[in-house]
Amino acid sequence: MDSLSVNHLLGIKYLKRNDIELIFKTADNFKKIINQPIKKVPSLRDVTIANLFFENSTRTKLSFEIAEKRLSADVLNFSSAASSVKKGETLLDTVNNILAMKVDLVVMRHPNPGASVFLSRNIDASIINAGDGTHEHPTQALLDAYSIREKYGEVSDKNIVIIGDILHSRVALSNIYCLKMLGANVSVCGPMTLMPKYLDDLGVNYFSNLKEALNWCDIANVLRIQLERQDVQLFPSLREYSNVYGINYAVLEKLNKEITIMHPGPINRGVELTSDVADSSHSLILDQVENGVAIRMAVLFLLSNKLN
Ligand code: CP
Repeated sequence: MDSLSVNHLLGIKYLKRNDIELIFKTADNFKKIINQPIKKVPSLRDVTIANLFFENSTRTKLSFEIAEKRLSADVLNFSSAASSVKKGETLLDTVNNILAMKVDLVVMRHPNPGASVFLSRNIDASIINAGDGTHEHPTQALLDAYSIREKYGEVSDKNIVIIGDILHSRVALSNIYCLKMLGANVSVCGPMTLMPKYLDDLGVNYFSNLKEALNWCDIANVLRIQLERQDVQLFPSLREYSNVYGINYAVLEKLNKEITIMHPGPINRGVELTSDVADSSHSLILDQVENGVAIRMAVLFLLSNKLN
């Protein structure tokens, strides 16, 4: 049987193209299953998975949980806000205590970049990074690329622009690694103050002008401004950001072609996207969420096959 080259999913940068293609092929099968009347399979019976969320989440948390339940795994849900972390317990103590309950796989979201890599080096379980600070969000990039492949047949040679707060975005970094590995042409667009200094090293083009970026692309992946990760304000106001980089229906109608709009969520409606765009036929946003379940089932299944 085909298997992943890794024992953990810590970031897209640790994967090979074959791993991504295997995840997509496996997700194709799970997507068929979850669209049948009986959505559950016994693939992970007797596997115990802990979902450790040290930072807020709606989509990723629920998507992992439903993926685990569709695979018949036993599921533990941990939220730091209601835990002994509040009494000063360390990350390693917290996780080692949970592992003592015979947990096989850990899904973790954490505000600190590198938290998943740290955990993978210090505990005896397979780790899936569900977003670590400004570092990576690998399952988001996989479901984004999978949704593009589903709509266009392939990702290779597509022109994809990622718009907004690239500096603070784990989604942007994971998407850039994933899309480039699959042969897409990737650009970024937004205020220069929201671009990382190492942009050239990522091998992407930069557009300061939204209209030029949209006329170049087939797909625009629009990101939220992450005010919670900004120590100092990096642009004058949300209103000004929206005037220059926000996408409304009039902006789409003035383009010389139709494009697809993606967004990882949560959307700040009226800032980066207006509702008439987010809810339009151009939008792939709810397909992304639907595909997230099949992608996470595939990742959980393939990593569980590597357990001792
Ligand atoms: N896309 C995403 O990670 O959303 P949540 O923060 O709601 O999980």
